[in-house]
Amino acid sequence: MAGKEKISHLRDEFTSKLKEVSTTEELEKLRVEFIGRKGKVTQLLKEIPNLPPEERKEFGKACNVLKAEIESAVKEKLKELKEKEKRERLEKERIDVTLPGRRRGLGALHPVTKTLKEIVKIFTSMGFTVAEGPEIETDFYNFEALNIPKGHPAREMQDTFYISDDVVLRTHTSPVQVRVMEKHQPPIQIIAPGKVYRKDADVTHTPMFHQVEGLMVDEKVTFADLKGVLEVFLKEVFGSDTKVRFRPSYFPFTEPSAEVDIGCVICGGKGCKVCKGTGWLEILGCGMVDPAVFKAVEINPETYQGFAFGMGVERIAMLKYGIDDLRLFFENDLRFLRQFRGV
Ligand code: DAH
Repeated sequence: MAGKEKISHLRDEFTSKLKEVSTTEELEKLRVEFIGRKGKVTQLLKEIPNLPPEERKEFGKACNVLKAEIESAVKEKLKELKEKEKRERLEKERIDVTLPGRRRGLGALHPVTKTLKEIVKIFTSMGFTVAEGPEIETDFYNFEALNIPKGHPAREMQDTFYISDDVVLRTHTSPVQVRVMEKHQPPIQIIAPGKVYRKDADVTHTPMFHQVEGLMVDEKVTFADLKGVLEVFLKEVFGSDTKVRFRPSYFPFTEPSAEVDIGCVICGGKGCKVCKGTGWLEILGCGMVDPAVFKAVEINPETYQGFAFGMGVERIAMLKYGIDDLRLFFENDLRFLRQFRGV
């Protein structure tokens, strides 16, 4: 093929290939194919020495013209493609601001937390303040100072987790009573909410649960005050029609002691599975602070009297919300927990 023809052939080839190019990468490939170091036009230039001398100049010139043409065509096309790619990217990344947003999941307080908060609110409205104590407790505070000496049968009532001979996970919130009385002289009017631990696990018992302890000590505190405070509290939690009764009982740290029942919230007192046919539900323990406890904290029982009470928060939550399985509180099943939104 004569030189001129080769050039015009290459030009046509380039022009038709350029038409097919649709991305900057393809364009770059095409550029290398024609005017790269080993490109077709470059190859052509290398043929110059083989031509008859009189043709060389013109052929060389024509090659360079073609090269320049290709360069400017590539430049032109590159600009065009970049524009196009930018437009496409903007289109793809476009945000539709009219789409509805993703809603944030709304949390709910755990029913035990909710119940605990309600209990605290009721007692603080009656003048009680909140006191706290450690969950890891010594034998002295958990037992001894509460008139439960070593070997006392009442220790068997509470299946204790021992950390050492002398250190336990508290089995109740009553040790907070002792800690408060040790530090403060009467008048004292506190509640102590918190976690307690017992070696117990079945449908109605978990190794960790919550209690609220109450304590009021002053010069003229009577059993009638105790009755009044607890009646107000229980009617506030379970409704003003709730029946409340005090039943004689025994606790080492109170004398006299009582257990408090409310009329069954499930059957209204007729008798059902929950109240075991009695029509009554046991709800808390209470009594007048035993003089032996006052002695342990050096408060004079001749001058001061006091009442104390203790209740289980999970039990109150179950009865309040009609929950029949304690384990639901600890499984963190969102379908269960979500029901307490806004309750
Ligand atoms: N500490 C008792 C328990 O865990 C509950 C209790 C009963 C606390 C009577 C008291 C009370 O303060 O007076 O079973």
